Amino acid sequence: MEKDAIITAIDVGTTKICTLTAQVEDENNVRILGVGIEPTQGIRKGMVIDIPLAANSIALSIKKAERASGMQIDNAIVSIAGSHISSINNKATVGIVGKVISKEDVTRVLESVKAISIPNDRMILHTVQRTFSVDGIEGIRNPKGMYANRLDVEAHIITGDELSIENLRQCIMTAEVDVSQFVLNSLADASVLLTDIEKQMGVIICDIGGGTTDLALFINNDIWHTNVIAVGGNHITTDIAQAFHLPFAQAEEVKRMHGSALPQYVDSDEYFYCRTFGKDEAAKFSRKELANVINMRTEELFQLIMQEIKRSGYDNLLPAGMVLTGGTALLPGIDKLGSDVLGMPVRIAKPEKMTGMIDQLNSPAYSTAVGLLYWSMLVQESSPEETAKGKTIVTTGEKIKRFLRMLLP
Ligand SMILES: Nc1ncnc2c1ncn2[C@@H]1O[C@H](COP(=O)(O)OP(=O)(O)OP(=O)(O)O)[C@@H](O)[C@H]1O
Ligand SMILES: [Mg+2]
Repeated sequence: MEKDAIITAIDVGTTKICTLTAQVEDENNVRILGVGIEPTQGIRKGMVIDIPLAANSIALSIKKAERASGMQIDNAIVSIAGSHISSINNKATVGIVGKVISKEDVTRVLESVKAISIPNDRMILHTVQRTFSVDGIEGIRNPKGMYANRLDVEAHIITGDELSIENLRQCIMTAEVDVSQFVLNSLADASVLLTDIEKQMGVIICDIGGGTTDLALFINNDIWHTNVIAVGGNHITTDIAQAFHLPFAQAEEVKRMHGSALPQYVDSDEYFYCRTFGKDEAAKFSRKELANVINMRTEELFQLIMQEIKRSGYDNLLPAGMVLTGGTALLPGIDKLGSDVLGMPVRIAKPEKMTGMIDQLNSPAYSTAVGLLYWSMLVQESSPEETAKGKTIVTTGEKIKRFLRMLLP
């Protein structure tokens, strides 16, 4: 993307909407010009459940970013999650005419890997190409010119429920903003948080937000698996509310101020005070008990994540472990708990590589919003003339080659 280009990203989370307007400085830096953060209404577990309410909170967030930057927002790249998202790996094969792989053979195999039939009520969000195989030899990046009998390619295809996606589009259009692209939360996160070495070695990115946990697994610089689990930090808060008879908002405050994922490190004589339902005076609570409640739900969530990693079949291929982000990554001790349950290293990551209005963004809760800006820079690297001709794009530009090769529909 050109230097000085202006991009807008909207992360529609379950707990907060974050609109960012930014200027591209270079491929490793964006200058944040406007930030608009607004509590979310009308969205549950990543899905719109009340269009007017959701549209209103999105519009407020956009207005704040417009006011801060002094710029009008017409279109934006938007995050998407929710349990309606699913993914498959599709494979295509072509026989090689004339024994040497030509540019046309490559185009042909890429065209056929994209051509999968999906149910009427679903739409394709992303098609990400993986490496080629030539006569069964895997991991070939550029097969053109090689002698061969057959050429295979695999693509990771991410689909979502069409109505859920359209509902979200409606909400954003109500604010008179067009959606230039929907991007899966975890792919946005990956574009700003993962290092090249992690993606090469094998790593899983995990964004634990309020209502969803978004996963994406990278090996050999390719994306191998993605999934959204409809459990997040809100479930921890609900457990606290029930265990201690607190209103949700108060349970949330207690979690943030006194919470820990590791009861074994909390002394039995640590207490906090707060008012329960129906009582006028504050009562005394044990921090260790609070940590027990948090620990149970969080451990269960990591077990669900482990099941999902096992289901992908790549559980032994992740030496770089997990990169953990999302607001729930702020919970003290969550990295150690995750590492114990998953049996792999876990590091907590938050967005970097930005200048300007960044004070509010210095938290793992804003990885997706900043990641969308980086995603947008990477995808713009694809050649526009080829897109116009409707050709398959194996994106050009070194940076996208290092990130992901997106196949445009
Ligand atoms: N200091 C903290 N300790 C523990 N949890 C926290 C802390 N700060 C925020 N959280 C939790 O993080 C969650 C919100 O995270 P985030 O902002 O990433 O979610 P979101 O993007 O709105 O939702 P989603 O991605 O699920 O749609 C909430 O459940 C909140 O309680
Ligand atoms: Mg989120």
